[in-house]
Amino acid sequence: MTKYIDGKEIAVKIKTQVKNHIDQLEKKPRFAVIQVGSQSASEVYVRNKIKACKEVGIETVYAHLDEGISEQSLLGLVEGFNQSSDFHGILVQLPLPKHISIEPVIEAIDPLKDVDGFHPLNVGRLTVKSTTPYLHPCTPWGIVHILDTVFPKKNQESGLRAKRIVVIGQSLIVGRPLSIMLQNEGATVTMCDKFTHHLYDHLRNADIIITATGVPGLIDRDMVKKINNPNLTIVDAGITKVDGKIVGDTNKDVYDLLETVTPVPGGVGPVTIAFLIRNILKAFCIQNNLPVPVIK
Ligand code: GUN
Repeated sequence: MTKYIDGKEIAVKIKTQVKNHIDQLEKKPRFAVIQVGSQSASEVYVRNKIKACKEVGIETVYAHLDEGISEQSLLGLVEGFNQSSDFHGILVQLPLPKHISIEPVIEAIDPLKDVDGFHPLNVGRLTVKSTTPYLHPCTPWGIVHILDTVFPKKNQESGLRAKRIVVIGQSLIVGRPLSIMLQNEGATVTMCDKFTHHLYDHLRNADIIITATGVPGLIDRDMVKKINNPNLTIVDAGITKVDGKIVGDTNKDVYDLLETVTPVPGGVGPVTIAFLIRNILKAFCIQNNLPVPVIK
């Protein structure tokens, strides 16, 4: 029987713990979320982030900017939030309009307030397994948390140690940082992308497949039948709207061939938002020299 990971249940557990910590704080964390333009997917993501913040007692300022705003004006706004000690987390929703380069915008965010974990300092600290507290990227952090529940620690050793994990999708938001986090857990990681030739050749020996390409049907029943591993886990972080419905990279008729799967919707998505909330609390604690709460 396939085990379905309930992302909403995991998210509620995380958010409840975060809320309990925030309830005990005198001063509450504040979060600035910036959206440029009105891309429909971004509107939904931003709305869900703001809603989750409200649920746990994080105050949010939502700066919804005109599509035509200049890069300079956007950088100026980010700098204002950097300078204000009233704000502990800053997020610029991606994608940005074509006339704005992502790199200077991400680099403009104070790394201590970079709750997306995209700033090169945070990515670098992740890569060198820094002992200095830093902010993790939310989707990869959530995925590793999900996998930790499926493959729990044994004698203090990560349950992912030596697992053969194939990550499909080399994005800066998910695939790349995730590959580093998995290596930090001792996993044997293979990186593929939606362009990879003969994908099956790379998947045939996998214990775990994590896909984040936004290509519906990339993983289909024929492929998984050929892989022929009754213990296979698939974590699907792909999100695409098809005929008004949200679908992942994995066809749903694959699910019954798997040991464990994160369904779309209701798998990785809610967990990602919970880990953003967790990061905002973490950023608040780091900035205020408070111990970072242990959340399970
Ligand atoms: N667009 C899609 N996912 C994300 C995310 O995790 N962070 C930001 N800033 N933009 C996104």
